[in-house]
Amino acid sequence: MNETTPKRLIPLLLSLLLAALAAACSPGAADPPMKGARVGGPFALAGPDGRVVRDTDFAGKYRIVYFGYTHCPDVCPNDLANIGQAMRRLEKETPALAARLQPIFITVDPERDTPAVMKDYTSAFHPKLLGLTGTPQQIAAVSKEFAVWSSKQKLQPGGEGYAVDHSRLTILMGPKGEPLALLPAEQGAEPLVAEIRKWAK
Ligand code: NI
Repeated sequence: MNETTPKRLIPLLLSLLLAALAAACSPGAADPPMKGARVGGPFALAGPDGRVVRDTDFAGKYRIVYFGYTHCPDVCPNDLANIGQAMRRLEKETPALAARLQPIFITVDPERDTPAVMKDYTSAFHPKLLGLTGTPQQIAAVSKEFAVWSSKQKLQPGGEGYAVDHSRLTILMGPKGEPLALLPAEQGAEPLVAEIRKWAK
C-alpha cells in the first residue's frame, strides 16, 4: 500500500526541523527531537467495550501513539508487531519502564473499526495495546491534532471495498502528553527499544 508524505505533514516536519535546529544551538542539550512540536492534544474516544478513553487517562505515562486501520494489508500489522515485540522486550529487561508505557492504536477507518473489531485486532499484537475509535468527526479531529493524514481509496471503481492511505507515524509522548520523538516502528523491535530508552526514563 502506498503511504505517502502528504502536504499536510509539511508543517510537522518543519516544526521538527526547527526543534532540531534549536537543540543544535544549545551545546550539550539533549532535548527530545519533538520538544515543542505542536503535535497531540486532548481527545475523548471509544475504547474497548465502548468506554470513553481520554488523553488525561494516561497522565504520568509515556505513550506510543500509532494511527492506522485493521484492514491495512501490510504496513500497520508490521509496525504494530514491532511495537508489541518492543513492549515484550522492555517488560522483560526493564519492567519499571515498561509499566510506564502505554501503546495506543487510533484508527483512521472508524466506519469498519468498531470498538469490538479494534479490541480483537490489538490483542493479537500485545495485551496492553489499546485500540481507540470514534465517530468520523472525532477521528478527523484527533488526526488533525496529531498531524496525521488519511484518504479512502476505492479498490475497484463502483465497488464497496476500500483501502485507507495514511501517514506512517509512531510518536512517543511524555507523561503530560507532550511529543518527544518519532519512533522507527518500521525498522523492528531493537531500534524501537533503543529510541524509547533514550527519551523515556
Ligand atoms: Ni496502514
